[in-house]
Amino acid sequence: MRRSLVAGNWKLNGSLNSISELISGIRERQDQVKNAELAVCPPFIYLSHVQGLLQGSDISLGAQDCSDQESGAYTGEVAAEMIKEFGCTYNIIGHSERRHIYGDSNETVATKFAHVIKNGLIPILCVGETLQDREEGHTEVVIAKQINAVLDLFGVKAFAKAIIAYEPVWAIGTGKTATPEQAQEVHEEIRLIIGAQNKDIAANIRILYGGSMKPENAEHLLAQPDIDGGLIGGAALKAEDFIGIAIAAN
Ligand code: PGA
Repeated sequence: MRRSLVAGNWKLNGSLNSISELISGIRERQDQVKNAELAVCPPFIYLSHVQGLLQGSDISLGAQDCSDQESGAYTGEVAAEMIKEFGCTYNIIGHSERRHIYGDSNETVATKFAHVIKNGLIPILCVGETLQDREEGHTEVVIAKQINAVLDLFGVKAFAKAIIAYEPVWAIGTGKTATPEQAQEVHEEIRLIIGAQNKDIAANIRILYGGSMKPENAEHLLAQPDIDGGLIGGAALKAEDFIGIAIAAN
């Protein structure tokens, strides 16, 4: 049985004050969440602060990216090994904003994935097609390419401890959500790609949906057989909405 994960991707948002308020709001409402696991992914600079705020709770901590290097002369980078030191469980890799704004290629994402696994963190590997990909009928090919970039290098065993997040680029931050049927179709496809190599890993891997998920649309998305939770951007910045989504996973 796959336990739902509802993870907040805070992106480039927050301050010491607003983050303290957000975490206390989440903790106050947390007992309404029956089944889902909760995680928050703040900007790197706040990891230590949030680690402190989460003491005594079972909310997991994650980072939003990591370097494709281990250490050395790489100004501005943060290594997976450093992230691990701040009590992180998860590390988002290959988010479409990293791919499209900062140029992370499938190969870079695969290298980051390897660093994350090596340091005992759980990668949340994001995949997703653009609107153009979808309109041209290339959704499956694009998703398969993004997953195969990791599968080909590290094998299916690397997915035994990984999470995949399907995030259609056209749905991120746009208010347009994939319909539950559209999302389910791709989630099923992702499970088939993994299943072609290992059925057990495919049956156990959690596949999250991301892209304008809100309390109002979460229930139908999360009711789909292959959707195991959400990676939440905008709605994760309000405790009430974030918990509302997690309640929908109950
Ligand atoms: P959104 O972002 O919920 O604001 O669409 C999701 C994400 O980018 O992870």
